[in-house]
Amino acid sequence: MLVSATEMLKKAKAGHYAVGQFNINNLEWTKAVLLTAQELQSPVILGVSEGAGKYMTGFETVAAMVKAMDESLGITVPVALHLDHGTYEGCYKCVKAGFTSIMFDGSHYPFEENLAKSTELVNVAHQLGLSIECEVGSIGGEEDGVIGMGECADPAECKTIADLGVDMLAAGIGNIHGKYPANWKGLSFETLDAIQQKTGVMPLVLHGGTGIPADMIKKAISLGVSKINVNTECQLSFADATRKYIEAGKDLEGKGFDPRKLLAPGFEAIKATVKEKMELFGSVGKA
Ligand code: G3H
Ligand code: ZN
Repeated sequence: MLVSATEMLKKAKAGHYAVGQFNINNLEWTKAVLLTAQELQSPVILGVSEGAGKYMTGFETVAAMVKAMDESLGITVPVALHLDHGTYEGCYKCVKAGFTSIMFDGSHYPFEENLAKSTELVNVAHQLGLSIECEVGSIGGEEDGVIGMGECADPAECKTIADLGVDMLAAGIGNIHGKYPANWKGLSFETLDAIQQKTGVMPLVLHGGTGIPADMIKKAISLGVSKINVNTECQLSFADATRKYIEAGKDLEGKGFDPRKLLAPGFEAIKATVKEKMELFGSVGKA
């Protein structure tokens, strides 16, 4: 069933595990993530970036597809439909479209403007029963046109935003969207600890979940991370499985070119990646 992310993240914070946000890009992606969450009895957050929303012909289409699929697949685990790295305008569009959660990414504004817009959107979201994520400090790298310098968040600014009553807080701690470069220095656990000291029970969000080593993931969870976002890693596993299918000439055998056959290896690869992450994050059986 579709719910806001509030309760699942409160439980995760208290239970010292993290809920995965897996970005969706089409019907097959959505089905793969939902079925895996159900099979593992794990809560899950479906992330939709502004670009993916456009690609899927609009947030209303996405909301209708997810709602219908959640029902037709008989999904009983908590599922949040969440706008990822939302613009100010995008947040209002997703509220209207029937999303259950939004992220306002105001990290590229001067802090005072981020604070003002976040304040407004927290009130709107909570009046309508949605959960809301805000961001302080930016996530490095590029994701669907969202480019960040990767500066670490200021713990005092994190507290100011947390005090608005957001349901989850994304803070730059040296994390990067996309593949991590070989010379990456790792997460700044010192910053993360300082943020948790300031924000207390606030569920913290780790963006750029692709490729972060398991020990760092576990340490981040121990320091207050309760939501971890993964997108690129599912895209890479989908592409790799699809390539192998075609390189093996499977698309030339019989009706191997049928999109339901052509997309199947990638579908299974997404499921395997999501399963691996849910097991690592500790959310299996926590529905
Ligand atoms: O907002 C989406 C996530 O931060 C995804 O990051 O593509 O590096 O896994 P990733
Ligand atoms: Zn992100």
